[in-house]
This record gives sequence, C-alpha cells and structure tokens, in this order.
Amino acid sequence: MTPAGSADAERPQRPQRPAGPDGAARPGGPGGVAGIAACLSLSLVGAVAFAVVNFTGRTGTVGYNALLGLSLGLAIIAAGIGAVLWDKRLIPQEEAVEERHPMVSPGAEEAATQQTVDRVVAETGLRQLPVLRRLVLAMLGGFGVIAVVPLLNLVRRAPHRDLFTTRWSPGARLVTPEGRPVRLGDLAIGGILTVLPEGHLGLDAQADSAALLIRLPPGLATPPRQAAAGYDNHVAFSKICTHAGCPVSMYMSQPHQLQCPCHQSVFDMTDLARPIFGPATRALPQLPVTVDADGCFRARSDFPEPVGPGFWSRS
Ligand code: FES
Repeated sequence: MTPAGSADAERPQRPQRPAGPDGAARPGGPGGVAGIAACLSLSLVGAVAFAVVNFTGRTGTVGYNALLGLSLGLAIIAAGIGAVLWDKRLIPQEEAVEERHPMVSPGAEEAATQQTVDRVVAETGLRQLPVLRRLVLAMLGGFGVIAVVPLLNLVRRAPHRDLFTTRWSPGARLVTPEGRPVRLGDLAIGGILTVLPEGHLGLDAQADSAALLIRLPPGLATPPRQAAAGYDNHVAFSKICTHAGCPVSMYMSQPHQLQCPCHQSVFDMTDLARPIFGPATRALPQLPVTVDADGCFRARSDFPEPVGPGFWSRS
C-alpha cells in the first residue's frame, strides 16, 4: 500500500472554493447563485405549466400529451440541474483519507493455506482420475448452460409477440362456441352471434379470438372498408374490448351499437366499430369474412391488427 504521505503528494490538488469571513463556502463563478436560481425558477415554471395543461388542455390529443410531457420534463430536468449546480458551486468539497493496514497475508499463512488446498485436492482423487476430473469440469459447464439458457430465452423470443396474432387464419370456418359452423341465413337481421375459429373452442381461443358476427339491415350506410371486409351485410368484429379486454356482448340493434358491460364503452357498428362513448379509445378490429360454396362463413385472414387493450401504445 502506498504511504499516505506520498499519496497525498501525488494526488492533484483541487482548487479551493472561496470562503466568506465566517468560513462558509461562497458561490463560485457566474454559474453560482444566479444559475441555481434560474434552474429552480425554470423548474417552477414547468410545474405550473404542467398543472395548467392538465386542467385546461384537450385530453386525448397529441399536443396535450406532448405538452404534459414537456412541462413535466422541464420541471424535473431543471430541478436536477439546479441540484447539481448547488452541489458543485455551494457545498464545500472535502477529500478525506482513511488509513488502512496492509491487506497482504503473512507468507507462513499463505503457505499453510496452499498446503491445505493441495491436501484436499489430493483427497478428492481428481489428480489420479483424469476421466472423472474431465467429467466434473463438463458437468460444471452444463450447469453454466442451465444458468444461461433462461437469459437467452428473453432475447430469442419477444414475450409479447403472441399478442399480435390470434387463432384466425385464412379459410378458417366461423363456428359457434359449441363448434357448429355458421351459415349464411343463420342470423336474422339485427341478429348477433359469438363465433370462434373452427378447431379452437378452448378458453385460450375465447380469450383472444372470440368475434361477433352481426347482420346489419340491408342498405345501411357503412364505410366502404367495413362493407368490403363483410359479406352480404354480415360483419364480424373482435369481441375483446379495446379498453381492458372484457367480452363485448350487449348489442343494441336499433342504433347499431355495441356496449361493453365492464365500463360502458360503446362502439358504433356502422362506422368500423369506432368507440363513441366510454374509456375505450380504439375501434374493435374487424375480421374479414366471406362465404364458401357450402354457404359457411369463413375468415379471409386473421384480424389486421392486434385485438384487445392497446398495449403497444396506439390510441
Ligand atoms: S373493458 Fe370494456 S369498457 Fe372497460
């Protein structure tokens, strides 16, 4: 260990901060009190702006969120810079040296330890049995693999990838929860039916693939995109609410609206299931359907976008 005296001599000396008559530190340079005051004032401005935007801004707009973020960021960053400046410019900086005894073991102790290790290794028989020695090393390597594999799983497969797809595939027949294929003519005008992809009737499928087949009145004006994804006034939409994932099931056939029983989000089924009331902010994804030669409804593809709550931050 280097003697304290020589270490002190080698260490570059910090410039001393000017002190007042009472011995207290004084602000150093132009970035002293003025800079700190400016930062704290900016932080205050950010906090007030945050409160004003929060109460007067138009929620749900991009500008609203951006202003909230900017004002909050200004408040936090300015406060942080002010705190750093305060520490650097106002608080006395001291360096203290704590002496320690040498951390080296005496030579006799080292030799005794070495002898003990040699004796233990000799008793295990590893030196005399090279095959076992290699197997032990290989076994330890195997435990290393066991430790690393779970970590590799984290990067090999994004945990949320399954959430972007459901069990619907091109050509999958629409069936009732009991497994009966749904045919053209099964639904009366204004009727609604829960459907699942054929062969997927379990709880997992109901959690992400459940859809509602609705027969709208003929001549009802709907966006061309909605009509194109339907068949003969029949349209199918995800049954999973885009707010928190409840099954949407209350259909009001006269205003052609679908209501979620959990928090009363209402979706307009004449306008691509756009939410018109409640906490849901995203339309129910539409399942493109057609009818085959036997008159059975079939999916033309999976949902074109993820179903359920907007976990990927889309609004
Ligand atoms: S889960 Fe549907 S409105 Fe909340």
